Amino acid sequence: MVDTPMIEIDAVSRYYGIYRALDDVSLDIAAGEFFSLLGPSGCGKTTLLRSIAGFDTPTSGDIRIDGQSAIDLPPNRRPTNMVFQNYAIFPHLNVEENVGYGLKRLKLDAADERQRVGNALEQVRLSHLGKRKAHELSGGQRQRVALARALVMRPKVLLLDEPLSALDKKLREEMQVELRTLQKAVGITFVLVTHDQYEALAMSDRIAVMFGGKIAQVATPKEIYQHPLTRQVADFLGGMNFMQAKITSESAVNLSVETTRFGNVTIAKPKGFTATNGLATIGIRPERLRVLWDDAKADCEVTGHVVDRHYFGEITHLIVDVPGLEKPLSVSETNNFGADDIPVGAPIRLAYDPDALVAMAD
Ligand SMILES: Nc1ncnc2c1ncn2[C@@H]1O[C@H](COP(=O)(O)OP(=O)(O)OP(=O)(O)O)[C@@H](O)[C@H]1O
Ligand SMILES: [Mg+2]
Repeated sequence: MVDTPMIEIDAVSRYYGIYRALDDVSLDIAAGEFFSLLGPSGCGKTTLLRSIAGFDTPTSGDIRIDGQSAIDLPPNRRPTNMVFQNYAIFPHLNVEENVGYGLKRLKLDAADERQRVGNALEQVRLSHLGKRKAHELSGGQRQRVALARALVMRPKVLLLDEPLSALDKKLREEMQVELRTLQKAVGITFVLVTHDQYEALAMSDRIAVMFGGKIAQVATPKEIYQHPLTRQVADFLGGMNFMQAKITSESAVNLSVETTRFGNVTIAKPKGFTATNGLATIGIRPERLRVLWDDAKADCEVTGHVVDRHYFGEITHLIVDVPGLEKPLSVSETNNFGADDIPVGAPIRLAYDPDALVAMAD
């Protein structure tokens, strides 16, 4: 539940024949929110976005936008605008003509129209390229044209389907920051579809993680990363060392567990958790394990041997075998202190904070 919902998705399912692309999805998106739909290929992100836009009709359920049921409205009668993955800009028209295209049906006077196009181009920093033909633009510039063309319509909701996926990594990261800044400046509700977890984490106020047509978790980036509700969510958003732990006691909100190498800990019980055979899946993120150098001491440590090492520039991933654990630990350490020089085979001690352990539903 959010205070002032702009979009209310209420028990939406979408069948293609017998295939269920959306399975009883309910979700509120707040006015002015930067909201992301995140999930692997085929999980139903585009289907949900197209249903909000009106390009697809749910088999059952309702979608309200700004308090009104939109389910029977065609796309052009909804207060939404969509930026498609392939941009769909007209190559033979110049930038201004592309951006102004949708305004034609509003029959504004020429000065108004010019001003709105000018504003939209300014918002995406393309004012200097107004006369350039669309086919003479770079990928990043084309992406901005597509964005300006949607913004110029002044929608209440902007729907973006993988808008940055065609750009190279560097440009994509720049555009992420820009898009986020732009959204805060214009105050329009943005719904972004992405399968890139870093993109979702960096840009969103909240994220819905989807698998197989269902929503697995809706939360802020930090909450989703630090307290994933399920194993699948944890795995999709970065690395996680999973372990089985014996449940020693359980309350409505907490689990006390006995682990083989991480001691006895009491941790928050995730929503939807049920124990199997008295066991719980717990985990710790690779960056929450820190290398202990020389005589350094920590309240909580585990000891093992380095069995593999992968260099990533700013960080090194160490694979550490710890006797008694089902699987070696994955450790991510910054390269300030020489983690990139630790030889394979070396003994190693790792510090951790028990607060970094999380329990997840399977
Ligand atoms: N018109 C259609 N007819 C039949 N099945 C469809 C149709 N459109 C989508 N699907 C199926 O519905 C599922 C969800 O598709 P959707 O396009 O929403 O996935 P997505 O999460 O956007 O994936 P991607 O990240 O690959 O774009 C997929 O399994 C897809 O094959
Ligand atoms: Mg898609």
